[in-house]
Amino acid sequence: MSALDGSRLIGRERRVLAETGSTNDEAAAWARQGAPEGAIVVADTQFRGRGRLGRAWSSPAGEGLYLSVVLRPPIAPAAAPPLTLAVGLALLDTARGLGARAHLKWPNDLLVEDPDGRRRKLAGVLTEMATSGLRIEHVIVGIGLNVGTRTFPSELAEIATSLARATGTAPSRDEVLEDLLAALDDRYRRFLSGGAAATVRAWKAEVDFLGRRVAVRSGQEEVVGLAEDLDDEGALRVRDEAGILHRLWAGDVALEPRDRES
Ligand code: BTN
Repeated sequence: MSALDGSRLIGRERRVLAETGSTNDEAAAWARQGAPEGAIVVADTQFRGRGRLGRAWSSPAGEGLYLSVVLRPPIAPAAAPPLTLAVGLALLDTARGLGARAHLKWPNDLLVEDPDGRRRKLAGVLTEMATSGLRIEHVIVGIGLNVGTRTFPSELAEIATSLARATGTAPSRDEVLEDLLAALDDRYRRFLSGGAAATVRAWKAEVDFLGRRVAVRSGQEEVVGLAEDLDDEGALRVRDEAGILHRLWAGDVALEPRDRES
């Protein structure tokens, strides 16, 4: 079956686990053994959940969705970054459909407004790719979404939130999963049929930091300057004070103080 057939692609084969180290590792192992495109691994809890930039992803049992999807897009590895943006859009669709005031944060976080008006992180995406020469073998899209958590550990309390905290009600994780799979299916099909540029355009329409001054931190490095654009390959173009243009693929982006109120 090709990705553009009428029937649902994402989630057509599933492995549901009580516990695992990381669903991304499970999905990658399954992909190496031939898992079809759209196969998913879901776990109730992870004991080595990974986030971006080498961080851990807290994965308490019964409180969140921990999910990895096997994709096999027929594109060059260099064309893959906007795929993560498509996943962000699917998360946005899902959270809004469940009543959350959700927003995207580059490159792949989903923030939501808590009742106190502050935006905190609801979900994150960790995309890992295996290539063979100029071909993609598989892409594993790992998604962590906080659903029912009411109390976070102190180190996360100021930065993380959940659907339960943001909306006042906790939908069942099964319901969130099915909504998310439908949204992923839709956004992935659009990515394949409309091309990366259409995905990037849709993503840009949702954010308000382009054209403003930002600081983008990745490890020890920080680039401060004007966020000029997100290009069609998914790179953030930031022009620093010296006029040098940086094309960035990852990092934590924050508005510079003088641009926060505008
Ligand atoms: C991030 O925001 O840093 C990305 C977090 C991704 C977490 C998910 S949970 C399911 C999948 N398995 C992992 O080990 N990580 C991803």
